[in-house]
Amino acid sequence: MNVTIRRLQSDDSALYRDIRLCSLAEDPTAFLASRREDEARPMSEWRTRLGGATDSAVFGAFANDALVGICGVRRPSRDKVRHRAQIWGMYVAPETRRHGAGRALLRAAIEHARSIPAVDVVTLSVNCSNLAARSLYIDAGFVPWGIDRDAFRVDGVAQDEEHMSRTFESRAPH
Ligand SMILES: CC(C)(COP(=O)(O)OP(=O)(O)OC[C@H]1O[C@@H](n2cnc3c(N)ncnc32)[C@H](O)[C@@H]1OP(=O)(O)O)[C@@H](O)C(=O)NCCC(=O)NCCS
Repeated sequence: MNVTIRRLQSDDSALYRDIRLCSLAEDPTAFLASRREDEARPMSEWRTRLGGATDSAVFGAFANDALVGICGVRRPSRDKVRHRAQIWGMYVAPETRRHGAGRALLRAAIEHARSIPAVDVVTLSVNCSNLAARSLYIDAGFVPWGIDRDAFRVDGVAQDEEHMSRTFESRAPH
């Protein structure tokens, strides 16, 4: 399968919204956001998410011109944490999985973070029961550093989250 990766722009908002809502409906335990919350967002918010602050980005994986995967990377706006970029919203459509789209999306998000000189660390959180995503992240050099028990609940069921980070070694202060 030939998958290409590119940064999504505000023109991609409708496509992006569709796949994001699918991800939240299909895999509610994989994401902190709920479908109900994201469904209620006005189109203007989706456009801003893709075309707004230049330090934050969402990448899309395309197969035959269809958007089949997404992954976001955001840089916080608060002064003291601007050296940390966060990966979020990673998703690949079930029929496209195990063809390298997840790894390619993650690579694009990491390279985006690395391209910002002031960013030294990339962080993410993953549901402890999500073996596929855990393996993807550990393969890409993320180091688990802690578990947050009952981090969120889905239909009343507690979900444990594992936090991971990857440091750009040459940049981090000692
Ligand atoms: C996790 C996810 C993004 C992986 O996407 P993908 O396109 O299938 O991943 P890739 O094909 O690039 O696989 C890269 C590596 O991830 C790991 N991996 C992916 N799927 C796996 C699975 N089902 N079981 C074990 N490891 C898996 C493997 O290490 C794999 O490398 P390999 O193929 O050389 O063994 C996808 O399964 C998904 O969207 N899951 C539902 C949403 C989700 O969990 N998002 C993450 C939120 S933190």
